[in-house]
Amino acid sequence: LRRVRSMRENPLLRDLQREFMNENPPTEAARIFYSNEENNAQRLSFPLRNCLNMIYVGTIGIGTPPQNFSVAFDTGSTDLWVPSIYCPSPACVNHRRFNPRLSSSFLNSSRTMKLVYSTGRMSGIVGYDNVQIGNLVAMSQAFGLSTLEPGTEFNRAPFDGILGLAYPSLATEGTTPFFDTLWQQDLISENVFAFYLSRGMKEGSTVMFGGVDHSYYTGELHWIPVTRRQFWQISMDSVSMNGKVVACHGGCQAMLDTGTSLLFGPQRDIRNIHSILQAQQISAHRVTIPCDNKNIMPDLVFTINRVNYSVPASAYLRPGNRWNSCISNLDWMELAWYQKEPWNLGDVFLRLYFSVFDRGNNRVGLATAV
Ligand SMILES: *[C@@H]1O[C@H](CO)[C@@H](O)[C@H](O)[C@H]1NC(C)=O
Ligand SMILES: *[C@@H]1O[C@H](CO)[C@@H](O)[C@H](O)[C@H]1NC(C)=O
Ligand SMILES: *[C@@H]1O[C@H](CO)[C@@H](O)[C@H](O)[C@H]1NC(C)=O
Repeated sequence: LRRVRSMRENPLLRDLQREFMNENPPTEAARIFYSNEENNAQRLSFPLRNCLNMIYVGTIGIGTPPQNFSVAFDTGSTDLWVPSIYCPSPACVNHRRFNPRLSSSFLNSSRTMKLVYSTGRMSGIVGYDNVQIGNLVAMSQAFGLSTLEPGTEFNRAPFDGILGLAYPSLATEGTTPFFDTLWQQDLISENVFAFYLSRGMKEGSTVMFGGVDHSYYTGELHWIPVTRRQFWQISMDSVSMNGKVVACHGGCQAMLDTGTSLLFGPQRDIRNIHSILQAQQISAHRVTIPCDNKNIMPDLVFTINRVNYSVPASAYLRPGNRWNSCISNLDWMELAWYQKEPWNLGDVFLRLYFSVFDRGNNRVGLATAV
């Protein structure tokens, strides 16, 4: 592993970081964990809140003194942004907004940021400021200050902004992503991050930077090479039920996305699975499945790099309003161009499997979550 610039070679940056930390203690209970081999490892285990099994959110501080924001930790995008005081959209007014005039370390830029997500859009300007997460401070981190958040999608979102953790190739041109800054400023000792997503409970979820806390999984971590360095994209061998391949015949692509609640596949494949499960489509994207016999319903098995990852009915279904009626957590991608898009293994999958995102080796690790 080659580091672009080491903090050990940059005393000025290190002093700035120390000074900043002394004046601005960590925003939220965070702990540094140590492995036996490396006692001085720089790692952070940072608590996330599980918002109704839909999204996982943590609090970061931006600026001097830090202004706090809830951000969604999203491996399906790369940029960091928060609403700004320049944004009159309801989605901004209903959330915390960054005021650059109240930060002594803010730097303006002439760059703009324009992002389109599967749900929601934003546009704004790019600024630079110190971004604090637990006891780590990314100095002069590029981030978006939204000036417009059209539509209603972000209106009632349980987060102010988004912190993207996908590859730099997806970042707004000319900006260094947050995780790359952590690595380049020598704030973390390993070029990895990992997620443990709790099931149902609000507390207990964790994102870890700079190392893997092995207490969050059982058995082995299985490594899978990244096939395309944009999203965290990998090759999948097949999808099966009861030992029969039901989708992804002969292989397909998939991505791991903490920012997606459900499990998405191509329409034809999800339809096929739903019909095997005797599903009833009740509206565009709402499918009910009889589930009085949930305990004997087959697992959905995702075979990746020759390892089987089972998703039981208790994970691919959620309770509906009526007795014996469950709602499917499997969904399909709407637009035609999505048909060639990879499967999206969202939180439904990632709650079952602890996930490691290894930028140093361009691979993903999966293991059975505790
Ligand atoms: C930011 O959050 C921390 C705790 O999470 C709190 O101590 C601090 O007062 C907050 N700062 C502001 C400006 O709200
Ligand atoms: C940043 O620059 C833009 C134009 O480049 C300007 O409209 C805006 O007021 C500036 N913001 C601050 C906080 O200086
Ligand atoms: C993995 O799943 C496939 C399809 O369900 C099955 O044929 C195969 O035996 C399983 N392999 C292991 C090692 O369990």
